[in-house]
Amino acid sequence: MNDSEEKEQRTIAHYDRSANAFWQGTKDHDVSQNIHALLDALPKDKALDILDFGCGPGRDLQQFKQLGHRPVGLDGSAAFCTMAHEYSGCPTLNQTFSEIDLTGFTFDGIFANASLFHVPKNHLPHVLKVLHQALRPKGVLFTSNPRGNSDGWQGQRYGHYLELESSQRYLEQAGFKVLNHYYRPQGKPIDQQPWLALVSLKT
Ligand SMILES: C[S@@+](CC[C@H](N)C(=O)[O-])C[C@H]1O[C@@H](n2cnc3c(N)ncnc32)[C@H](O)[C@@H]1O
Repeated sequence: MNDSEEKEQRTIAHYDRSANAFWQGTKDHDVSQNIHALLDALPKDKALDILDFGCGPGRDLQQFKQLGHRPVGLDGSAAFCTMAHEYSGCPTLNQTFSEIDLTGFTFDGIFANASLFHVPKNHLPHVLKVLHQALRPKGVLFTSNPRGNSDGWQGQRYGHYLELESSQRYLEQAGFKVLNHYYRPQGKPIDQQPWLALVSLKT
């Protein structure tokens, strides 16, 4: 197993093992600010095809569906794909980010909430290209990630942390234009806002 494969497989194995605890710990998280940041950048008058990239156990698939859209989940954890499908009734693709294959799919929007930071830096340009290709013209990518200037292990999970400028560089290189960004949680001083959210348009 090479270094990137190890990062990916150990991280997914961690989520698989702790799937029920993760659901209990995150099912009530309020990420409506992020859901609306994506939807606000897209047409309001129609049902949208949305990819939930790294969907976890399905909290946000359910939200998008309730709002009248057609979400599809994607996750490397087989346990999460099953849970997400059972909880939301939405289709889920059990794929790893490094081997993501969206042939035959097109989306209006992609919601990558707390997921893209798990992609090792050498794979990030490729993954962003695949997401860019899967979007329709004027499609929108939402990303929210813990910010920083490093990469490494947090327990059994690998993460690659970027600040605004470097996030923007990766996104622009893949053909996106960053429309706006904000830090979370809302209403805190910046040093207590570990999350960076970006809304980016396919150009
Ligand atoms: C922090 S969780 C976020 C889950 C969900 N989006 C949420 O907001 O609750 C990260 C998700 O990414 C998935 N993931 C991590 N690395 C992955 C990889 N290399 N390939 C596919 N899925 C991966 C995990 O299984 C997990 O569902």
